[in-house]
Order: sequence, then structure tokens, then C-alpha cells
Amino acid sequence: MDLSIIVPTYNEAPNIRELVRRVTRATEGMRAEIIFVDDSRDDTPAEILRVAQDAAIPVRLLHRDVASGGLGGAVVAGMHLAESDTCLVMDGDLQHPPEKIPELAERMRRGDVDVVVASRYTGDGTAHGLADRTRVWVSRLSTALTRAMFPVRLRSVADPMTGYFVVDRRAIDDETLNPRGFKILLEILARTPLRVAEVPFDFAGRFAGESKASLRQGMHFLVQLAALRFGKMSLFAIVGGLGAIANVLIVWALVRLGVNYVVAAVIAAEVTIVANFLLMERFVFQDMKGQASRVGSRFAKSFAFNNAEALVRLPIVAVLVSGWHWSAAIATAVTLLAAFFVRFLFHALVVYAPKRPQGRALSTPILDELDRQAVLPGEL
Ligand code: GDD
Ligand code: MN
Repeated sequence: MDLSIIVPTYNEAPNIRELVRRVTRATEGMRAEIIFVDDSRDDTPAEILRVAQDAAIPVRLLHRDVASGGLGGAVVAGMHLAESDTCLVMDGDLQHPPEKIPELAERMRRGDVDVVVASRYTGDGTAHGLADRTRVWVSRLSTALTRAMFPVRLRSVADPMTGYFVVDRRAIDDETLNPRGFKILLEILARTPLRVAEVPFDFAGRFAGESKASLRQGMHFLVQLAALRFGKMSLFAIVGGLGAIANVLIVWALVRLGVNYVVAAVIAAEVTIVANFLLMERFVFQDMKGQASRVGSRFAKSFAFNNAEALVRLPIVAVLVSGWHWSAAIATAVTLLAAFFVRFLFHALVVYAPKRPQGRALSTPILDELDRQAVLPGEL
């Protein structure tokens, strides 16, 4: 097999036959296969099986009951199944013209790059197929923001947000990928230093059906960008910062309602501890939940730690101020900062620690684990 063509699909039934027809024609003379990774809720899988029966090239289907990682997760799943190490990824709605496949494959065959990006924003490439003015601006702005945040890794990539590319799967370590949402190429390029070439193409209009892009995907993208750039710790800091603001607001509101200050402070602290835990589960450590202990146990550890921290921090401030003659503001700032790092480490290493495989002695030494955590984020 020369080329495995991976097509993520979500409710694309009316596009399948035309896509397979044009891909078949474009790949004449190549040994190519198409792998649909499908999360549809409609009859797309049935249509894929129908089309596969009389297709001239192998057409395979992976239908997932749980759409983990969305579009990005589908692409990674497809790469696992591919017969060839050379994986071409394209959308199922014909916005990516299959006639470009030979040129992309040919560029890859030269052997001097790991990724070939079909780009709307280089040479005579175009983005005419974007649905409307808003999408044009969203695309331009998000591309500019992304490139500004990764000036080194994306130096030679004008269109890191495209969904049309070829990758040599041996060059990427999918253990480090955290696919979520639409931007799998960005995830690949930001996590691993790769040699990249770009080939311009015309981003066409949809053949049939409608786009699955949404505001929710936009939010996923921003979270992905923050996580890639600053790692988990930045998300942890954002959640902690929101918690601190909420804490102050709750105290203020309760005191205004006539609640005693100490009672208000305790209520606010407990409410924000619980809310922070929920946000961490959802946005910060979501990828580590699977291997960690159960949610009840995670909550108990997190809750106990945060309460203990609150109890221990105030006496330490008191000692620093009265014993060591620090100013109260500096003592508070230093202890809060220290608490932030300790809290992050406790959550990364204890609350969300992978369960030990049975029968094995105490696993990873703490330094190895710290080292692993430290390199999880993208470039610096
Ligand atoms: N398996 C799977 N699971 N496929 C999905 C999912 C999902 O959750 N969500 C969307 N897809 C498939 C769609 O069926 C389509 O084949 C492809 O992913 C792209 O989705 P569209 O709905 O066509 O979105 P788009 O046109 O806005 O986004 C595309 O263009 C962007 C460039 O503007 C994507 O290719 C993006 O990756 C690309 O960056
Ligand atoms: Mn599309």
C-alpha cells in the first residue's frame, strides 16, 4: 500500500459516493485505500458499506459508538488502522479536492519531509469555500494568533488549521497527542518538531450537507491552544484564578446579605473548592481521568488537600509576619504562589496518578514523573 486516505465523517451520507469516485480517479496507478472513521448519527455508515461494495479501491469503515476526541480523535484512530505509514487526511465533504492527492503524495515521496500540508494561505491557494464572511475572519484571525504563539514550530506553515495533509505516521509519537476537536494538524505540529512542506490548494465549497463547525469547536480550539502553548499548568492557573475571583464575589455577596464574615469565608471556600474540582475534571486533567482512581476517590483527595492547604497556609503567613518580620502582603503572595505549585503537583502526581498495574511494585520515581509532566507542553 502506497497511501492510506483517512476521512473523518459525521453525517456526510450524500457526499460519500462522489468522494469515493473522485478519490478513485485521482489515485489511479497508486496503491491506495480509503478509511472512513465515522461518528455519524444518520445512515452514513450504511452508505459507506454500499459504496464500498462496488468501489475499485479498498474502502474500509471504522464506525465509533463513542466519538472520543471528535474529528481529531477520529483521525488518530484512522492512523492506527492504516495499511501504509503514509497517511493522507481529508474531509468527507469535498471541500478538499481529491485531484490534489497525486501532487501531495508526490511531494511526500521525495522523502525530505515528514508532513505535507495542503495550504489555503500559501502561493496561489485560496479559501473561497469558507461559508461566509464571519468564517473568513475567524479563519484568518485564528491562523494569525496560532502562528504568533508558535513562531518557531510554525515558521514554515502558513495554514496550520487545514484539515488536508499527508503525514508519515512513523515521525509522530501519538502518545503525546491529545486530540480533541477540529485541529489535529496543529496538535501534531505543535507537539513534535517535524519537517514540513506546503502545497497550495483551492478550498472548495461543500458538495452537500452542512458544516459541523460550531462555537463549541471554537472554544475547544482556544483551550487546545492554551494547553499546547503553556501546558496543563496554564489551564490549572486559569481555573485557579477563576476560583479566586468567585471566592471573593461569594464572600462579598454573603456579607452583604448579612452573613457573618467567617461563615461567609468558609462557605465561599468550600463552594470554590468543589467548583474548581469540577472544572479540573472537565478541562485540565480530562485526559488523565481514564487511568486514575475513581471519581469519588479523586474528589476526596482534592477536597482534603485544598482544605488542609487553607488551614496550613494561614499559620505559615502568621509565622512569616510575626516571627520573620515579612510584610503581610509579601508573605501572602509568596505562600499563595507556593501553594499554587504544590497544589498543581499534588493534583498531577497524586489525585490523577495512574492506578498502579497490579503486581508491580511502586512505579515511576517522582523525578521521572516530574520530568514527564514538564515536557508535556509544546515548545517554549
Ligand atoms: N469522525 C468524525 N467525528 N468526523 C467529524 C466530526 C466528528 O466528531 N466532526 C466533523 N467531522 C468531519 C466532517 O464530517 C467532515 O468530513 C470533516 O470532519 C470537517 O468537518 P466540517 O463540518 O466540514 O467542518 P469545516 O468545513 O468547518 O472544517 C473543516 O475545515 C477547516 C478549515 O476551515 C475541517 O477540515 C477543519 O479541520 C479545517 O481546519
Ligand atoms: Mn467542511
